Amino acid sequence: MTRVLLIGNGAREHAIAKALVHSGVDLVAHMDRLNPGIAKLAIEVSINSILDSRKLPDLDGVDYAVIGPEAPLASGVSDFLMNRGVPCVAPGKNAAMIETSKSFARRIIQQTFPDANPKYSIVRSLDDLRKFESEVGIENIVVKPDGLTGGKGVKIFGEHLHSKMELEKYAVDELSKQGVVVLEERLDGIEFTVQAFVDGTNLVTMPLVRDYKRAYDQDKGPNTGSMGSYSTERHDLVYVSDEDLSSAKLIMQTTVAQIKKVTGGEYKGILYGQFMKTGSGLKVIEYNARFGDPEALNVLSILNSSMDVVCQQIIDGRLTDVFFDDLATVCVYVVPEGYPGPDVIKDYPIDTSVATSAELYFASVYQKDNKILTTGSRAVGVLGKGENVAQAREIAYANASRIKGKVRYRSDIAQDA
Ligand code: AMP
Ligand code: GLY
Repeated sequence: MTRVLLIGNGAREHAIAKALVHSGVDLVAHMDRLNPGIAKLAIEVSINSILDSRKLPDLDGVDYAVIGPEAPLASGVSDFLMNRGVPCVAPGKNAAMIETSKSFARRIIQQTFPDANPKYSIVRSLDDLRKFESEVGIENIVVKPDGLTGGKGVKIFGEHLHSKMELEKYAVDELSKQGVVVLEERLDGIEFTVQAFVDGTNLVTMPLVRDYKRAYDQDKGPNTGSMGSYSTERHDLVYVSDEDLSSAKLIMQTTVAQIKKVTGGEYKGILYGQFMKTGSGLKVIEYNARFGDPEALNVLSILNSSMDVVCQQIIDGRLTDVFFDDLATVCVYVVPEGYPGPDVIKDYPIDTSVATSAELYFASVYQKDNKILTTGSRAVGVLGKGENVAQAREIAYANASRIKGKVRYRSDIAQDA
């Protein structure tokens, strides 16, 4: 039996675990907090830091590893595994810089598809900063710390930063932490994302997914990791044309080739490209070196190829077609009351026992005395599948409402689909 090490413990990794086990592998799950959904699927569970290679479980007999989140890539866990002879469905530390360093990503795009970059500057001093300010105008600036910030680092003038003083203070603070900060021109347009399997050279895209980042209905409130998502039975989205998709795919493909040229490392694993359609063409907002969460739930729940075969093809550099069911999916994230604010309710039990006709993916929860308890973050991704989005939505919402506890969810996910 193929033995696969899965690193990570969120809903995304729960979806990866399900797809892997469904394809017949023995799963060894390494998590920094026990995810009850993943634990149920695994033949072996190890609970320890997922960032520290020395804390990994015994690698004896492990055929390959799948790494869910980005943080272990940044800390070199994939390189450690590869050096130990365990191939990874995940890029090494250098190739993963396409996500973990915004300046690296902008440089790679500049070398291949400069038109897909906004105006930007890799800033190392207050002088650099002021120069860019005078070029594009303070009111048009987006500040991006270079490294990983858990999705909280990007600050846009007018939205998060309201004066020159505030912007410069934030940029200078970030400069002092990392020695470099990326400034970009603020773009305007419709955003979409493309997820792809990558085998070092070839790239196979997955169904398109729309996610809802804002905390409350009608896209009100602060940004979150995402409150829900949908995909259609045709795997398309009305606001993404075939031309948009093929341009995005070409940009991603060229990025993968350039990463190899620059770092010498092959990009294997998942590449998530975030794009904006603007008046001056398609622009890359950012790349992630992993599945999106919840986007992974949408696509992996309708995967109609063997996840094990796809992973082995990625490792061997011979990726072929990957098939998905012609079904629509809707994911509704059930979150603790108060999320994502400072007064979020933590450590309360939730009861998921009566939610049965949807697939449940555990996110940030833990188990104690046979109870499932919430943390301060998203608790359960409730996924409905159907012939169309309306059907999938009905299933997702019927089951989200059956989850008992101090929780809430958005009521308008996929309403506009
Ligand atoms: P990121 O963490 O890079 O995904 O950025 C978070 C959000 O900030 C994105 O989803 C965009 O909506 C927005 N954003 C990032 N870069 C830009 C940009 N250059 N212009 C306008 N919006 C941006
Ligand atoms: N859903 C957005 C992300 O995973 O980054």
